[in-house]
Amino acid sequence: MKYRTLEFKDGVLKLLDQRRLPVEIDFYEAKNYREVETAISDMVVRGAPAIGAAAAYGVYLAALEYRDLPGEEFFKKVFAADRELAAARPTAVNLTWAINRMEKVLKTRQHKSEGPDQSIDGLLADILKEADKIALEDVEINKAMARHGYEVVPERGTVLTHCNAGALATVDYGTALGVIREAHFRGKRIRVYADETRPRLQGARLTAFELVEEGIPVTLIADSVAATLIRDGKIDLILVGADRIAANGDTANKIGTYMLSEMALKFKVPFYIAAPMSTIDFELGSGREIEIEERSPDELTHIRGLRIAPEGVNVYNPAFDVTPAANITGIITEKGIIRPPFTEGIASLRNKQESPGN
Ligand code: MRU
Repeated sequence: MKYRTLEFKDGVLKLLDQRRLPVEIDFYEAKNYREVETAISDMVVRGAPAIGAAAAYGVYLAALEYRDLPGEEFFKKVFAADRELAAARPTAVNLTWAINRMEKVLKTRQHKSEGPDQSIDGLLADILKEADKIALEDVEINKAMARHGYEVVPERGTVLTHCNAGALATVDYGTALGVIREAHFRGKRIRVYADETRPRLQGARLTAFELVEEGIPVTLIADSVAATLIRDGKIDLILVGADRIAANGDTANKIGTYMLSEMALKFKVPFYIAAPMSTIDFELGSGREIEIEERSPDELTHIRGLRIAPEGVNVYNPAFDVTPAANITGIITEKGIIRPPFTEGIASLRNKQESPGN
């Protein structure tokens, strides 16, 4: 992608403002953790891996802000800031995953008794290094995922995707769109159908933007068109990202994903999830335990500030839904493709990941 989702330089987190894309190319600068929190909750930055990386820099900015406080007070304040960052959006587990990684580094320093000045500088350097590592690793992980995912993409055919699981949802390259990029650039002749993805229109605004920019053939459709295309045999593969995957494979992703998975099952279209291992919440037995974010009614009653629904109407606006593992053909990760039975497949990848040398 020509534009970077996020960049951290000289104490400023520069974010491509995804609220205005593709009409305006604008940047949002977060100079403290509160501005990072606002950027995540307002969806300046969005997409599970991208909000994880942004939050990691948010933790660093909190530590920078509180650097002059005495030992325990410093840690108390930074951990409180972490809780605020983690609460910015509840569904994508990558947010807490990244904050936990940052806290692990902080905690190793918490119990060391070094000289105050030297130790705070060292600590700040260590956590900035960790945030950079989270961001850099994300790109490598997406590329590895794309290499594994390549095999599920037909040599020639159509791929339907929902929401935006692209470079804009990650630090770069993307998860589901990473697989699509890889297949396209390695010569597979594919056309993408991009669901517009009501109500925030991530498909129309972001996925279409990325694919048009890369020269990957794309057709934008209203969400309600997908069922007819699937029934009529016009879709060869459905490929989406994820915000949280339970240990049994149940997957939370953008609202509307579940509906696609039911159609895929009915008409025997392969339905794949592409997500990094950091999106798997090993602590959750099933998707029933996943907290689903509900967003403002304004997202449905207004378009760009213009009211389109009557005053006083009741609104229900969940941002995500859960696709049962039974509807999923496979989960593409950086470690390989997990196939049913998912409970066993996920547990075995986890063990591999945790064994020394990995
Ligand atoms: O509300 P959003 O735009 O943050 O939702 C994003 C999605 O649902 C993506 O599909 C998911 O985060 C995977 S991104 C690689």
